[in-house]
Amino acid sequence: MSIVKLHDLQFTPFISADELSEIVNSLVYQVSNDLDRDEVPLFIGILNGSFLFASDFIRGFKGNCEVSFVKLNSYEGTESTDIVNELIGINEDLIDRTVIILEDIIDTGATLSKIYDIFKNKNVKQLKIATLFFKPDVYKKELPIDYIGKNIEDKFIVGYGLDYNGLGRNLPAIYQLTTEQ
Ligand code: IMP
Ligand code: MG
Repeated sequence: MSIVKLHDLQFTPFISADELSEIVNSLVYQVSNDLDRDEVPLFIGILNGSFLFASDFIRGFKGNCEVSFVKLNSYEGTESTDIVNELIGINEDLIDRTVIILEDIIDTGATLSKIYDIFKNKNVKQLKIATLFFKPDVYKKELPIDYIGKNIEDKFIVGYGLDYNGLGRNLPAIYQLTTEQ
């Protein structure tokens, strides 16, 4: 892995594809362990960022499950904004379902708060949140996060689904913004 340039910024290797796969496997293990026998969970990936995480997670999950996606958008460039737009919503009947959200990264928590809003009146049996990455230093909410793959410092990252203004999602590993450009 070497330095990657996306638009005007440079990124250095941060988390390898092998480590990512260990983190995802560990999340699959924890989520599976907490499910009741015969429970058929509905996994909901949050687009765009979580598409690779969600696909690897779901592939690793043994047992019956359903899969859907919601598309939300809050980021501009390398900064989170407080306005979260729902670009594609949910069509499934969620009554009495165990819904497990698959999110790529929780930063300020604005997106998470929108997620809790969306599922508030859907009469689900339980709503659980699994996030691949969490930035504890910038999280501003009190909302519960059930499963965290890895805590990371407050630095912008790309790769494995995460982008900088549209680029970088296809990188198989995670890269971190270099501070000196
Ligand atoms: P929040 O709403 O501030 O918690 O930000 C959550 C969303 O912003 C995530 O679902 C990501 O799609 C995006 N995001 C947050 N941090 C990063 C980052 O470091 N790199 C790329 N995207 C990020
Ligand atoms: Mg996201």
